[in-house]
Amino acid sequence: MDTIWRMLRSNRAASEDRSILSLFDDPQRFDDFSVSTAGMLLDYSKTSMDTEARRLLVQLAEEAGVEAQREAMFAGEKINTSEDRAVLHTALRNQNGPVMLEGADVMPEVRATLARMASFANALRNGEIKAADGGPITDVISIGIGGSDLGPAMGVKALGAYHDGPTLRFVSNIDGADFTEASKRADPARTLVIVASKTFTTIETMTNAETAKKWLGAGADSQMVAISTALDKTAAFGIPADRVFGFEDWVGGRYSMWGPIGLPIMLAVGPKRFGEFLDGGYAMDQHFRTAPLAENMPVLLALTGIWHRNICDYPSRAVLPYDQRLSRLPAYLQQLDMESNGKGVMADGTPVSQATGAVVWGQAGTNGQHAFYQLLHQGTNVVPCEFMMAAEGFEPALKHHHDLLKANCLAQSEALMRGRVSKDTEPYRAFPGNRPSTTLAYKKLTPFALGQIIALYEHRVFVEGVIWGINSFDQWGVELGKEMATALVPLVQGADASDKDGSTQGLLKALNAG
Ligand code: F6P
Repeated sequence: MDTIWRMLRSNRAASEDRSILSLFDDPQRFDDFSVSTAGMLLDYSKTSMDTEARRLLVQLAEEAGVEAQREAMFAGEKINTSEDRAVLHTALRNQNGPVMLEGADVMPEVRATLARMASFANALRNGEIKAADGGPITDVISIGIGGSDLGPAMGVKALGAYHDGPTLRFVSNIDGADFTEASKRADPARTLVIVASKTFTTIETMTNAETAKKWLGAGADSQMVAISTALDKTAAFGIPADRVFGFEDWVGGRYSMWGPIGLPIMLAVGPKRFGEFLDGGYAMDQHFRTAPLAENMPVLLALTGIWHRNICDYPSRAVLPYDQRLSRLPAYLQQLDMESNGKGVMADGTPVSQATGAVVWGQAGTNGQHAFYQLLHQGTNVVPCEFMMAAEGFEPALKHHHDLLKANCLAQSEALMRGRVSKDTEPYRAFPGNRPSTTLAYKKLTPFALGQIIALYEHRVFVEGVIWGINSFDQWGVELGKEMATALVPLVQGADASDKDGSTQGLLKALNAG
């Protein structure tokens, strides 16, 4: 692989002065540098990658063993080596045949859980499940954090056009403000509380769950649901087994919205729509498994990422959905991408020899235009931008809004690439241009399209991780802060802090002074 990395760097060095715009002298540029699958198109033509660079990048993916690793993942091999776990979130959306793990098919259990979720969701949505006082349940508060919150919260918002179930609120932060704000607009007598935690030990979630239990009062026994892999702990918390939706340790937290962790989405839009979301994920899986690497959307999105991160040395990338309902997607992708690929050692424990995960950030357009696009256009860092745009919105009466949204999205990628020269007397009006972007275009933000988008990004993260040789499925980097927080609690409550560093002691003094 060293040779290919070198060849890629030489390609970049030789072409650095060539503008992205000049690549469009080739009338085939768009057709050659875009890829489609099941109604979704990824345009990566507005990047500096040329045909030779792409050939080398595809070769890099081949030599890194992307195809073999991909099959190892789908086949249930324990590719999460540091936790000795398989990585089988794809089984949650599988629609074809068995998925074997250590000689046993996981699909009967997956299907049975999905059916239980559906019957629970139907019963809640049609009023059969009642509150403790016999009245209807109109509101749901979902408590969870990280992968047990970001996916469902993002998904409920994304599918807002289909939301015909109860009102959903999400509580994640240990800051009591989060539960207070969510609960003050809800009536405990009319509310179901979901406690979502893979481990059922996460301090934020368990603290909020205890608070919610008290808040529910008489309803606590019948108005709580748990979603977890730790069935002993959900029982100890007092949630009856028929109100617990279990899943297995081969579903990583940030890959878990396809199963029981996605229950809030199912409650909001119903089991049929949730099934369409799974269909979209499955369709992307099929494409990822079968399309040649050079025509494979997740692979090409990953290779664009590798090109920008490792060859062009761009430290971050912006996710810019021109779709207000996807406004939580950048936060979701931050966990998916940065918790997966923010790693400094390879899967074998040796230090990585080059940069890994980029900083992922972003906001829905057009809002971001009035906040940070100044830096995107004229700042000193080049930030590759990942635009997303639907051909159609859900508001036919407001089509002129959608036309303006579309025009703005297209204008931004064009302006970033084209730039503008200015008069010498007005250098502040100059735009350097030559700034790369990709655009993901889809027909409409249906549940199917959402499933495609999430699976696309999951596989993109996976392919980048394989090329870097890291384990994308563990998250040891979150441990130290958690341990130190536990140790600091008594100090915050007044215990002796003299063995702490000067800054921590000073801050404790300032903060404990009230
Ligand atoms: O932040 C670390 C982490 O373990 C994430 O990976 C996970 O999504 C989150 O905490 C929540 O964990 P749990 O679902 O076990 O409460």
